[in-house]
Amino acid sequence: MPVILAIESSCDDTSAAVCVDGVILSNVIANQRIHEAYGGVVPELASRVHQQNIVPAVQQALLNAKVNKNDIDAVAFTRGPGLLGSLLVGVSFAKGFALAQNAPLVEVNHMQAHILAHFIGDHNPTFPFLCLTVSGGHTQIVLVKDYFDMQIIGQTLDDAAGEAMDKTSKILGLPYPGGPLIDKYARQGNPDAYKFPEPQIPGFDFSFSGLKTSILYFIRDNVAKNPDFITENMADICASVEKRIATILLNKFERAAKEYGITQLALAGGVSANTGLRLGLQALCEKNGWEAFIPAMQYCTDNAAMIAIAGYHKYLKGEFIGQDVAPMARMIFKPLTPKGEH
Ligand code: KG4
Ligand code: ZN
Repeated sequence: MPVILAIESSCDDTSAAVCVDGVILSNVIANQRIHEAYGGVVPELASRVHQQNIVPAVQQALLNAKVNKNDIDAVAFTRGPGLLGSLLVGVSFAKGFALAQNAPLVEVNHMQAHILAHFIGDHNPTFPFLCLTVSGGHTQIVLVKDYFDMQIIGQTLDDAAGEAMDKTSKILGLPYPGGPLIDKYARQGNPDAYKFPEPQIPGFDFSFSGLKTSILYFIRDNVAKNPDFITENMADICASVEKRIATILLNKFERAAKEYGITQLALAGGVSANTGLRLGLQALCEKNGWEAFIPAMQYCTDNAAMIAIAGYHKYLKGEFIGQDVAPMARMIFKPLTPKGEH
């Protein structure tokens, strides 16, 4: 019954979780509100707030799980990808804790962990399945052959889906992070009120920078004619933008599933909290007779529970990493570890 402590600090949320034998017993998330005033995450501030939050978050996670620190069998942590300073706080804490407790370290790739969140609880996909991972920094269609055998078959060439949400909300004068606000306003709006273009990108790759520019020009032109255009039409604008982002994602996802002959489709990452996208995937799967896997809300945005479940499966494989491990701001699924370097 391995007891795993997991640490996540890749961006602006400090999170700690405890999992016993693959069951999540606690998942504490300390959000950083300091970035709201800046319209985006300020890396240096994020690192400093992680430093303040990490010890209380871990203490709370142990308390909630009713687990003593001496019972921890391994410490799993996000090695990357993410903001280097933020990662450094989590990695350093994990190393210190593991050293003090004489416990092994398990490195976890944040993007893989978003996908492996589908193995928390009982409703799990079977391999192979396809996952659309959509976050603030990534947009990927991933063919998941096994827990740690994943192949990216399509990804964004520029902005991520979450970035498209956040940049749109910034254009609309909404605070950061804008994705949840676009979702909130969209519920009251008409998704067919305004038409935004669908980029024509070959294969299974995505592009969101053209969409962002067309939204910017659309708002600029309409505000020139009517200064109250945004406030008068907020719900319709958000609903139309959300629908376009969701259809760009789901049209490719559907084509990929057909091409690869996959009938289990999963969503992962922060944008998978989006209502339009969740409903869209459900409708798509119903239409094709496929099975949709949509993560519980608390496992969409960044959390340490997903690091714990990924860490648990690595622990079972006996894959540990030494104390000389360093964070990786850019980390691909199978880390390329040049000789003598981590
Ligand atoms: O996975 P995540 O928490 O952090 C990264 O690893 O990037 O994703 C954060 C992104 C942000 O862009 C945020 O605006 C978006 O997820 N997001 C949403 C919703 N909740 C979070 N986008 C649309 N609708 C939501 N409900
Ligand atoms: Zn994430």
